[in-house]
Amino acid sequence: MKTIISPSILSADFANLEKEIKKIEPYVSWLHIDVMDGHFVPNISIGVPVVKSIRKITNLFLDTHLMIENPIKYIDAFSLAGADLVTFHYEAAKDKTIETIKKIKENNKKVGLSIKPKTKVEEIKDYINLVDLILIMTVEPGFGGQKFMDECAKKITEIKNYSKNDNLIIQVDGGINDKTARICTNLGANCLVAGNYIYNSDNIEEAIKSLI
Ligand code: DX5
Ligand code: ZN
Repeated sequence: MKTIISPSILSADFANLEKEIKKIEPYVSWLHIDVMDGHFVPNISIGVPVVKSIRKITNLFLDTHLMIENPIKYIDAFSLAGADLVTFHYEAAKDKTIETIKKIKENNKKVGLSIKPKTKVEEIKDYINLVDLILIMTVEPGFGGQKFMDECAKKITEIKNYSKNDNLIIQVDGGINDKTARICTNLGANCLVAGNYIYNSDNIEEAIKSLI
């Protein structure tokens, strides 16, 4: 499977979002949207109305990363707003994980399940074959521009060992640059989120191409 690059708009200029999205559009097919509620993570970013506005100006595949408590409550809203993939955190859903997966599927959206650096792959082993994508956080979620946590990379292999799905998307998010991308793709990650590395580079095209 070709490596998917999903630029994170968390590092973009929010006053010029359309322009920022158009900058990456020629080189990628996905866009990563970080939704933070100030509870699940210690930061607040963007929500449903922004996703709705983004949907109107781009045909990119909207990869929506919900870093929020009680995600099941917001699945319908983000789906209606135009998300193509809804990724939620296992730590936020816990015993409602199956229900949340079902809700996303009812909305005909792709399903992503994410774990924070301290959560073990073993904890989500029963869900790996029920979803389209597993997101391995390689930093503590909440902020862009943090350093890649090397110890998280081995989770890629662990996920692969549990997976029975050749099409499973294994996504990594946090501290991805040309060097850490290589570590992850060598282990079997096939989807890379990058915010700071892409949006704060002098040449966006080259930055994106250096990840593939
Ligand atoms: C962090 C977010 C990431 C963030 C990555 O909580 O989930 O998507 O934008 O940023 P970089 O690539 O700068 O580490
Ligand atoms: Zn993210």
